Formats: sequence, structure tokens, C-alpha cells
Amino acid sequence: MKFYLDTANVEEINRINRLGLLDGVTTNPSIIAKEGRDFEETIKEICSIVDGPVSAEVIGLTVDEMVEEARNIETWADNVVVKIPMTEAGLEAVHILSKEGIKTNVTLIFSVAQGLMAAKAGATFVSPFVGRVDDIGEDGIELIQNLNQTLINYNFDTEIITASVRTIGHLEKAAVAGAHIATIPGSLLPKLWKHPLTDNGIQQFLADWEKVPKKAETLS
Ligand code: E4P
Repeated sequence: MKFYLDTANVEEINRINRLGLLDGVTTNPSIIAKEGRDFEETIKEICSIVDGPVSAEVIGLTVDEMVEEARNIETWADNVVVKIPMTEAGLEAVHILSKEGIKTNVTLIFSVAQGLMAAKAGATFVSPFVGRVDDIGEDGIELIQNLNQTLINYNFDTEIITASVRTIGHLEKAAVAGAHIATIPGSLLPKLWKHPLTDNGIQQFLADWEKVPKKAETLS
């Protein structure tokens, strides 16, 4: 499973990059707004750090606006991917952009039908929102399972980015379901590697190590 960060925070990106775990980054307008920095400058900096796709979202809602923004965003870096919302205009824009070789990530996917339409239009990535699906009393992981099986059934190259990940359970279950990618918010990062039994184990080993005779003590 590829592992993206769902953040525009450069410190968080560097932190996980140092561990060798980072395969890409996703952003959206809310994530960009949190950083209080210029959009283009932020995306260019992230693209220079990350050796993998970095999603930057368009704001326009018409086909012409989305295509124009996408063509501009695409010039910012070799590894930038244009995020397009799942609407009729979005599908048309994705179709145009895919023919130009511009990579797209169709976002705000809440059903198998939406994911299938995006893949057919030529999306490079689709982003089903598991957390927001759970929020309305449905099953986000079931959406990942069903969408993944659908893309396999028809041999699509489109990759699933499991988005709106709120828990480690979401990440693990999306991996079991076969999602290609999970994008994780920075707030979830420490939970990826921390476990109370690991911490207890380290404390126990250190306490026991104190009881081991040291060379100087043995000689005296
Ligand atoms: C990423 O592509 C999505 O925009 C993001 O995961 C949405 O997460 P949220 O539902 O927690 O805002």
C-alpha cells in the first residue's frame, strides 16, 4: 500500500519523509487554508520535497475554469496531480485533461457509481472519503471494498486513494480491502507507530538492564 500525507504542513511532510514512508501528498482548499501561505508557493515546495504525486485542487466549477486551472497547476512541477471535484463538469474536464496527459485525482467520491464514472472518464486517481461516509451512517470501508473490486473487474489502471481517513482502523481495513493508497492526516501520524505495550516493553528492558553487572563492577 502506498502511503500519502493529507497535509500541506511542510514539517509533517519532512518528518514522515525522514522515515522513508512517504509516497505522496494530498491537499484540498481547507488543508491549504490551514497553513496561511500562498497556494502555488506551498505546492511547489511540497513537490520539491516529495518523490511522488502531490495533489492540488482546482477551485473553478465550470469545465473551462477547471481545465484552465489544471493546465496552469500542471506547469508547477513534474509530480503535481490536479484534483478535480466529482461533478458532471469535473468528469468532462478529466476527460479533456487525460487526453492531454495531465494526471487527475477525482475527489469527493461517495459511491461506487461515482468512482466508476471517474475511472471511465480517465482519472489517474479516485478519492473515496471513508470518514465522511461513516459520518452519514454508511460504511466507508465497504465503499473501498466495492470500488476496488469494480476497478479490478474491468481492468482499470485508476488507483484508489482512501481519503478522509480518521482512524488507524480505516488505514488497516483499507489495506485489507486492497486500496492502492491511503492518505493520512498529520494528527494521526504518531498513532501509526506508537503502542503502549511497546513503551512498556522498553521501560521493562531498561529496568532489567540496570541489573546486569557492568564490566567495571565485575572486575572490582
Ligand atoms: C483528501 O484528498 C481529502 O480531501 C481529505 O482526506 C478529506 O478529509 P476530511 O473528510 O477529514 O476533511
